Amino acid sequence: PRPILLTRHGESRDNVRGRIGGDNVLSDKGEIYAKKLANFVEKRLKSERAASIWTSTLQRTILTATPIVGFPKIQWRALDEINAGVCDGMTYEEIRKNMPEEYDARKKDKLRYRYPRGESYLDVIQRLEPVIIELERQRAPVVVISHQAVLRALYAYFADRPLKEIPHIEMPLHTIIEIQMGVTGVQEKRYKLMD
Ligand code: G3H
Repeated sequence: PRPILLTRHGESRDNVRGRIGGDNVLSDKGEIYAKKLANFVEKRLKSERAASIWTSTLQRTILTATPIVGFPKIQWRALDEINAGVCDGMTYEEIRKNMPEEYDARKKDKLRYRYPRGESYLDVIQRLEPVIIELERQRAPVVVISHQAVLRALYAYFADRPLKEIPHIEMPLHTIIEIQMGVTGVQEKRYKLMD
């Protein structure tokens, strides 16, 4: 069995300010996580010559992968964060104040709610299909460095969690979720590298 390692990018400067979306760089803490992750991956996958690192096309995942050396890196647009459309760059508080109908609609049905000119969780789940097919096909370990909403959907697929739970799955920063797919089912380990 070969592991799939799932992790969010290190903390970004927008995470610190509570802004969603955007394409910002890492905070100092996020940079530290990138180094710790590289250390972990290099130890964990030392003898795995065919392993690869998959990121989104956004800076915060690419920068999180930067300190990892010795493995090929692949950028997937399908691993980009949920597109918040007109709300991109706002805080949840700003959305609540300036667009209360949108805020309420999302709260009522977070799975189906689609940001104006953006995406819903269902849209994200659909665009992940080619990524999942490729992950299933790989024989070697893969490290997936992506974003909260996307990783909720990927994790739910492997952990067999129901659709309606997906938008609410806890997906903490600075934590690696290792999935092992064996003949008897899926096993999971978590490594919290820092707060
Ligand atoms: O920027 C988007 C967030 O990572 C997704 O979180 O779906 O809980 O608002 P949310």
